[in-house]
Amino acid sequence: MFRAYEIQPDIYWVGTIEWNERYIHGFSMPLGSTTNAYLIMDEHITLIDTCMPGFEDELLQRIASIVDPARIDYIVSNHSEKDHAGGLARMLAAAPHAKVVTSSPKGHAILQTYVGDEREFIPVKSGDTLTIGTRTLSFIHTPMVHWPDNMVTYSATDRMLFSNDAFGQFFATSQRFCDEVDQSVLFACAKKYFANIIMPYAKQTAKAVAAVRGLDIEVIAPAHGLIWRGEGVGRILDAYEQWCALEPTDSAVVVYATMYGATARMAAAITEAFMAAGISVRAYDLDVSDISDIMTEVMDARYVAVGSSTHNGTVLPPMGQFLTYLKGLAPKGRRGLAFGSFGWAATGTKEIDTVLQGAGYEPLLDPQTCGWNDTTASEEALFQAVSEALR
Ligand code: FEO
Repeated sequence: MFRAYEIQPDIYWVGTIEWNERYIHGFSMPLGSTTNAYLIMDEHITLIDTCMPGFEDELLQRIASIVDPARIDYIVSNHSEKDHAGGLARMLAAAPHAKVVTSSPKGHAILQTYVGDEREFIPVKSGDTLTIGTRTLSFIHTPMVHWPDNMVTYSATDRMLFSNDAFGQFFATSQRFCDEVDQSVLFACAKKYFANIIMPYAKQTAKAVAAVRGLDIEVIAPAHGLIWRGEGVGRILDAYEQWCALEPTDSAVVVYATMYGATARMAAAITEAFMAAGISVRAYDLDVSDISDIMTEVMDARYVAVGSSTHNGTVLPPMGQFLTYLKGLAPKGRRGLAFGSFGWAATGTKEIDTVLQGAGYEPLLDPQTCGWNDTTASEEALFQAVSEALR
């Protein structure tokens, strides 16, 4: 039933479409996702990457629509995270003669934990090549984009880069190429993906993008989402260069969790202060907002204000989740503001301040607190305090 789709002469997309997957390690995917694998029909048949665990039948059927999987000679694993290598054991069972090409030493070490060491591995270093017939594939290590083992595979014959996670998007579609879908949706998905997966490794990614710029490329085939071709190649490379710089814009994000509304009123006062100062701002109540959507805006924001009611001596549960996420992803060179309401001790606000400073946010103001039943007079005072700090 599942079919392969030819994307270049003798190169087929054989990936899987996760139409109804909505989360991957905390990242929301409202449009689902694809996990891309590519089959190169050369003298030595080569598969680039595999699939998520549970999607092996789809991958195998797409391959079998072109060739018996038993004839595969090489499986190139650009990255050993489960979404790309989770199907490796089933693929090796279906392709009993296939050798596994992976980065040395990190990819090799990780893949051995998946499939043992009885099958033949070809561990490769940056610059190594593998001739598969009319094509010679070359491998470039891209460590920490976003795991230590990452590499990309380049086919000069096809002017094609198999970039794995880099340049990906979580976007399930029946189309395969970037120019076949709405560009605003495509780039919104690509930016959210960068902010939530790639951002902590922006320096390493900038080096990888510079290395890619040195190649003659017509097509970038990532491991998630749409394939970049034509003008799309330059546009996504330009976008990555801009995103990797992590230059803040004159904008703010206000994120809060509220119990009975006092912290929400503080958030409104802070939001108004940013607006009055002419700074673009968005406010997010964590009861109704998604942390990975917020993070896409945090990536650009010069200011982040974070508030919670104090509850059981700490922050409310949704704020705990947000702070955990922020700790791992926070861009540097920004200013932060902790705020929140309390009943008898503002310990939740102190906790937020500690996390913000630990993540590298320079305080815009001392932590701002208010009693849970304070009058609107304290909201006006908060508006004035933030306005003053922004002058
Ligand atoms: Fe798409 Fe790092 O896995």
